[in-house]
Amino acid sequence: MTVDIFDAIFNRRSIRKFTEQDVDREKIIKILDAGRWAPSGLNNQPWRFLVVKDEQRKAKLAECTRYGHIVRQANTLIVVFLAKDAMYNATKDYQGAGACIQNMLLAAHGLGLGAVWLGEILNQETQVHEVLNTDPEQLELMAVIAMGYPAQEGSSSRKDLSQLLLEEF
Ligand SMILES: Cc1cc2nc3c(=O)[nH]c(=O)nc-3n(C[C@H](O)[C@H](O)[C@H](O)COP(=O)(O)O)c2cc1C
Repeated sequence: MTVDIFDAIFNRRSIRKFTEQDVDREKIIKILDAGRWAPSGLNNQPWRFLVVKDEQRKAKLAECTRYGHIVRQANTLIVVFLAKDAMYNATKDYQGAGACIQNMLLAAHGLGLGAVWLGEILNQETQVHEVLNTDPEQLELMAVIAMGYPAQEGSSSRKDLSQLLLEEF
């Protein structure tokens, strides 16, 4: 299934409730590939991924955030890091991580999955590294993407363009 780019951008919503249906490996790889093809400054591709499907690991990660109920329900988690030795400019590398994460959210939507970008968990980064056995000296946590087959529609709104334009054109 493919989805028109504007359909994906305008109709993607954060999904925070999931069914128990398994997300197969092929789809996860497609989503990671979408992340991999995001733009990055100097094309340094500083992102690194950890896919978590194991229930015990998920339960431990759920303890790291007040959105634990979402983490627990999600079939698959993609933990996104920046590799510190691949970074060249913090601002630009963070921007690249954002592009990478958004690509993955759109890809998930395009594949009929639901997903949400979890950022609050960054407040407990030390705990996350302990759970995942990752090295905080090498990796900086950027987000956890929780995903699965959607069990809700999702809803959100946006400010009107006129509120965002600094001057009329
Ligand atoms: C940097 C960032 C951090 C976010 N952190 C969380 C989070 O911790 N928990 C959550 O439920 N949603 C989180 N979200 C999702 C936003 O709440 C959501 O994108 C926003 O409300 C707009 O809704 P929509 O994605 O459905 O359009 C985060 C989004 C971004 C970009």
